[in-house]
Amino acid sequence: LVIINAMDIGGLASFLQFSRTFAQPLGQMSQQMNVLLSAMAGAERIFAILREEPEVDEGTVTLDQRDPNQWYWVDGDKRIPVVGNIQLHNVDFGYVPGVRILKDINVWAEPGLKVAFVGATGAGKTTITNLINRFYEIDSGVITFDEIPVTKIKKDDLRKTISIVLQDTHLFTGTIADNIRYGNLDATDDEVIKAAKLANAHSFIKRLPQGYQTEITGDGEGLSQGQRQLLAIARAAVANPKVLILDEATSSIDSHTEALISRGMDQLMEGRTSFVIAHRLSTIRNSDVIMVMDHGEIIERGDHESLMEKHGVYYKLYTGQIELD
Ligand SMILES: Nc1ncnc2c1ncn2[C@@H]1O[C@H](COP(=O)(O)OP(=O)(O)OP(=O)(O)O)[C@@H](O)[C@H]1O
Ligand SMILES: [Mg+2]
Repeated sequence: LVIINAMDIGGLASFLQFSRTFAQPLGQMSQQMNVLLSAMAGAERIFAILREEPEVDEGTVTLDQRDPNQWYWVDGDKRIPVVGNIQLHNVDFGYVPGVRILKDINVWAEPGLKVAFVGATGAGKTTITNLINRFYEIDSGVITFDEIPVTKIKKDDLRKTISIVLQDTHLFTGTIADNIRYGNLDATDDEVIKAAKLANAHSFIKRLPQGYQTEITGDGEGLSQGQRQLLAIARAAVANPKVLILDEATSSIDSHTEALISRGMDQLMEGRTSFVIAHRLSTIRNSDVIMVMDHGEIIERGDHESLMEKHGVYYKLYTGQIELD
């Protein structure tokens, strides 16, 4: 229209201006709509958490940690020293009614004793450790801690005495020191470093440009799988637990790191009750007792030598006649 002189430049300029003014709020509206929808999705999750029923905890036995060298269970006026004796008697368990995962499990463990579980994937190894922590309630049988049924112990206090190194390690955004301190929020810097040394993590942390102050992002992006596990072990160490549960990562790591990790674990396990779930049989050779699991049952138990002599399932696993996974 301007070219054929049906409109002047001023008209064109104001037309463009007006059309932009008209379109802008429409665009803004759809943007707001986007924000609103993602806020709603977020709110849904927040409300799901708010609606979550708190864990019922009818436990009455509490933990007295005032003396760092000797903790006590307080049961009314009785004070029982915390030792770390764990026993499972005839434990049956299923995650959903009607599907039994564990059948008649009997295990006992005491400080200084290393109990190992081996078995194919899905055999129920992690499940046993979930029960010791009371993440789930057992269907029948009893689990005792220092001869007190765990159902009588306050969950929080029970879990303060147990450290688990999970099959998969999660690290948080923050410094290495903060990540280790997650195991015991009151730990001093010295305690954090002591724990890292115990876990054999100190040497690699020291070599990082900012040492313990190195920031970790995105679940430990800059660290190797083995280094993440070493941090997880340090995290367990800083809590100074009576009972230690190590669920070995399935992913393969190089043999140097494997040696580092197993030395770290061995140092950590000294004088504690420890349960080790192994995917590499080399890590559990030196266990005091090895439980071979199959479909929720313990089918063989004994130390490495006696199980090898028996020429049973463990022997076949060890000699490579059958595979673990
Ligand atoms: N939260 C859950 N809900 C329902 N079933 C589950 C749950 N966790 C595990 N299971 C089932 O329990 C069985 C035992 O699982 P568990 O995790 O104890 O195996 P695992 O021996 O630790 O195996 P892996 O060597 O792979 O770690 C599996 O059949 C699994 O399907
Ligand atoms: Mg497992």
